[in-house]
Amino acid sequence: MEFSIKSGSPEKQRSACVVVGVFESRKLTLPAELLDKAGSGYIGDIVRRGDMEGKSGTTLLLHNVPGTLCDRVLLIGLGKEKDFREKEFAQAIRSAVKTLNETGAFDASIFLTELAVKKRDVAWRVRQTAIIALDATYRFDHFKSKKEEIRRPLRKLTLCVERRNELAPAEEALKQGIAIAEGMTLAKDLGNQPPNVCNPAYLAERASTLAADLGLTCEVLERDDMEKLGMHSLLSVANGARQPPKLIVVHYRGTRPSDKPLVLVGKGVTFDTGGISLKPAADMDEMKYDMCGAASVLGTLLAVARMKLPINVTIIVPATENMPGGNATRPGDIVTSLSGQTIEILNTDAEGRLILCDALTYAERLEPDTVIDVATLTGACVVALGGVASGLFANKDSLARELLDAGDEAHDRAWHMPLWDDYQELLKSPFADMANIGGRYGGAITAACFLSRFTKKYDWAHLDIAGTAWKSGADKGATGRPVSLLTHYILQRAGQLN
Ligand code: BES
Ligand code: MN
Ligand code: ZN
Repeated sequence: MEFSIKSGSPEKQRSACVVVGVFESRKLTLPAELLDKAGSGYIGDIVRRGDMEGKSGTTLLLHNVPGTLCDRVLLIGLGKEKDFREKEFAQAIRSAVKTLNETGAFDASIFLTELAVKKRDVAWRVRQTAIIALDATYRFDHFKSKKEEIRRPLRKLTLCVERRNELAPAEEALKQGIAIAEGMTLAKDLGNQPPNVCNPAYLAERASTLAADLGLTCEVLERDDMEKLGMHSLLSVANGARQPPKLIVVHYRGTRPSDKPLVLVGKGVTFDTGGISLKPAADMDEMKYDMCGAASVLGTLLAVARMKLPINVTIIVPATENMPGGNATRPGDIVTSLSGQTIEILNTDAEGRLILCDALTYAERLEPDTVIDVATLTGACVVALGGVASGLFANKDSLARELLDAGDEAHDRAWHMPLWDDYQELLKSPFADMANIGGRYGGAITAACFLSRFTKKYDWAHLDIAGTAWKSGADKGATGRPVSLLTHYILQRAGQLN
């Protein structure tokens, strides 16, 4: 889809469709009012008759509205004006784009960008509109032999702003929004790939073509390399799999090479059967999404590179399958991690932390400024936070704060969870330095505590995205989260967010 920014009044737009909002209790927004005036009360009459009451999510398509130069007008219900927030804004854009795709209009001018959302400026509204519009039209039909055809898809969306002096910030925000959406699309595509396609070698291949396209450097460590380094924790997860593991590293350099990089580590388990601690059969297909952390750091890197942000970012993806097999790790096995710390593996299904700990130790050699890992780490996090917020843990409160704020700004939210020492005791093992599980309760926290033992040398945060990376049920699919959160955090750090 193509986007552009414009300032002007709705009645003067020569487009296939003009989109304006109506609040509940039939209150017209300013652009709707302008259309109403131009058409001598035409819109107001329709609203008064009760055909559009302004309830959130409702739409009404009108043709040949008097006094306008466009073919159609699409009214979007916005809900109560006093309750109009980020969520309602997103809903309005989403229903507008979905409806436009079902009409004959190839292009539309959308007058929702000027709606006031508390504390949000025009740049925010433009950025979000691009992200939501591209999310709403996303489909993964690669493996459908007959693609579901959209007869007349929406091709061009013009975002209208109220004042001319808003044009410049809006143009800048549009570029950002498109870059973020592109990163999310990559994350969704990778996540949705079936696990017989998206294996560690495939992730490495995609990372290296991405790097080549963007002019970045990419290294892939093979099993031998990892053995030489002593990444026995990571390798223990790969033991049961036929597919060889990969450790993927990509560097983006947007500032002086000597500036310490932000390092993003993404869990890349391309299929998690649980290993010898085998998972139950129901919904096991969804464990193809166990590489969504990896997908999200690749997506974030793409967004950052597209915007050419003045910051250094390196991503690390430990990639492997977690399979049962004759050579698979047994419950009770003890391995030595790259850090030298020994781990008693009591449950082979707690594999994410086993690959992340070695990647996190490996990150030390990059002399990072900050390290953030992203992982579909625990079912316990889904129990705690559901699909709304990602779990956030950090060894530094100011870093946690910055990520929470970025999540709010992106409307890709996280919630701060404790990392108190009291929980560390749960990881005690009689035979090794630690066990890889902490018992029945507080599972998201004990998993984070496990990781914290490998991140003492730098500022670190951990995002548990087990509940937010994909949706189950009728609209099953990867969400592209937390690409937007991470990119907003980086935009803020790079001083590109006002
Ligand atoms: N990938 C799973 C976590 C997961 C489960 C994400 C369900 C989303 C939905 C992870 O590797 C795992 O299996 N974790 C175990 C840990 C347990 C054995 C301590 C879990 O959460 O059950
Ligand atoms: Mn697992
Ligand atoms: Zn897993």
